[in-house]
Amino acid sequence: MSDRSTPGDGTRCVHAGLPEPTPGEPFLPGPVFAAPYHLDPAAGPEATPNGYGRPDNPTRRRLEAAIGELEGGEALAFASGQAALTAVLLPLLRPGDTVLLPTDGYFPVRAFATETLASLGVQVRFVPTAGPYPAFDGVRLILVETPANPGLDVCDVTDLAERAHAAGALLAVDNTTATPLGQRPLDLGADLVVASGTKALTGHSDLLLGYVASRAAELLEPIRAWRTTTGAIPGAFDAWLAHRSLATLDLRLTRQSANAAAVAAALRARTDVTGVRWPGLPDDPAYPVASRQMRRFPGVVSFDLGSADRVARFLAASRLVFAATSFGGLHTTADRRAQWGDDVPAGFLRFSCGIEDTADLLADLTAALDAAGEP
Ligand SMILES: Cc1ncc(COP(=O)(O)O)c(C=O)c1O
Repeated sequence: MSDRSTPGDGTRCVHAGLPEPTPGEPFLPGPVFAAPYHLDPAAGPEATPNGYGRPDNPTRRRLEAAIGELEGGEALAFASGQAALTAVLLPLLRPGDTVLLPTDGYFPVRAFATETLASLGVQVRFVPTAGPYPAFDGVRLILVETPANPGLDVCDVTDLAERAHAAGALLAVDNTTATPLGQRPLDLGADLVVASGTKALTGHSDLLLGYVASRAAELLEPIRAWRTTTGAIPGAFDAWLAHRSLATLDLRLTRQSANAAAVAAALRARTDVTGVRWPGLPDDPAYPVASRQMRRFPGVVSFDLGSADRVARFLAASRLVFAATSFGGLHTTADRRAQWGDDVPAGFLRFSCGIEDTADLLADLTAALDAAGEP
């Protein structure tokens, strides 16, 4: 037996959120499917943690305990990453407030801000993830995404948290690409973590999930109330699947990150691929900050194949790379982001390494690129 006082990532993932061992009970109890629960006829809802399924579900609470352990705070689970992001932006911002968002982050957040937040009287300003950041005076909330999707730039969370707090602003970090094993924004000084659990956190491409985590009860309470009011909850089965998947996060990320290192190096060695970005490449612009603040590098690489036609030929020739618009899953996927409206070149690909054997993935990638010919 090891006498380690701080368990490693694999141990933390396997045990996160599990109930105390009880003879005759499963390790991870199955999903509780309930809309109403039995109430005490006299004491009513005060006598039980479970009154009605929208605010209360034990399967969801277990998942939240697990995510909270990994992020180092208290977590609230949402129906999707977008539900979590809007649950931070809408209850915390008031007319007249200013919010700072990334120019190069997940585009529906920008669309939501310019279409909905601006119409509610919130001033919306945009900053590139890599900066430079303006003074934060008069800003209520800064939301950063690091590494940013899809360009993979990063920002210094500790520095931004200090500057935000000096100006009386809040810092929220979208931790989707990194996952809580890749970085712990609350430890770095962020007030809130928000993320899509649809991606690497759960990683099986079979559910949507989001979460918000914080150490500040006064921030989480309005967000919890917002979730109860809007009903943006994950169902019990998805919460249970997510919890089951979380147990292998360490293993999955280890292989994804190793595959990304090999893929990035192989792409760099080719003269027919440009713009290769991966925060773990020592000469990547993101490397100095990423290597300081991240605990491990993500499985996502981005690069440019020069044209939409060449991307199509590459994807048609590959046996292992699925064309799909998500990332962080078990299967290697690639997404031509210009087809969704991202402000990137026509041949730009977000390439998400799965857990295939590295040698197989490299062989397939090389053969498919060779078959795709010139741009
Ligand atoms: C960085 C980031 N944040 C949030 C989201 C939204 O997550 P969901 O699709 O689970 O709503 C995504 C989705 O791709 C994302 O990439």
